[in-house]
Amino acid sequence: MKTWSLLAVAASAGLVASVALAEPRRDAILADLREQAKKEDPRFAGFSAERGATLYRATHQGKDGPISCSTCHGSTPLGNGQTRLGKAIDPMAVSKNPARYTDSANVEKWFKRNCTEVLGRGCTATEKGDFITFMSGQ
Ligand code: HEC
Repeated sequence: MKTWSLLAVAASAGLVASVALAEPRRDAILADLREQAKKEDPRFAGFSAERGATLYRATHQGKDGPISCSTCHGSTPLGNGQTRLGKAIDPMAVSKNPARYTDSANVEKWFKRNCTEVLGRGCTATEKGDFITFMSGQ
């Protein structure tokens, strides 16, 4: 086998391994959020992709005018988004970007920042789980 094809095999094996690891990590993040959601709301009955979709699209009055998650992340989570300074943001949909929602510190950091900006408060555990559930099916 030539070197380049060996390299191609090694590279695709690496990709398969990282995609295979991504799902358990995302599941663990969702499991933590589920525990938190039950504590926050005793009536919690599971995450909803539908509520996640609504959260993604709903427009709120931000300090600089109307804003939604989709303002930066794009009208569909399957496409690229854009920061207000015009820098591209990779798609939020897991099908397009399997590494999404796999690093809990990163997930928490951005939920905190973006929920505060859009909703004027942090997201609840239910909202975070709904959002990730919606994106996992996209
Ligand atoms: C002002 C622009 C902006 C808005 C509005 C915004 N985001 Fe983001 N978001 C970003 C940027 C920039 C990143 C980091 C870049 C990246 O992850 O590609 C990010 C990343 C994230 C991540 C991390 C995903 C991961 O890879 O693990 C989550 C979760 C997230 N945003 C949720 C939300 C939610 C929920 C809303 C709406 C309540 C929202 N964002 C609104 C700009 C925004």
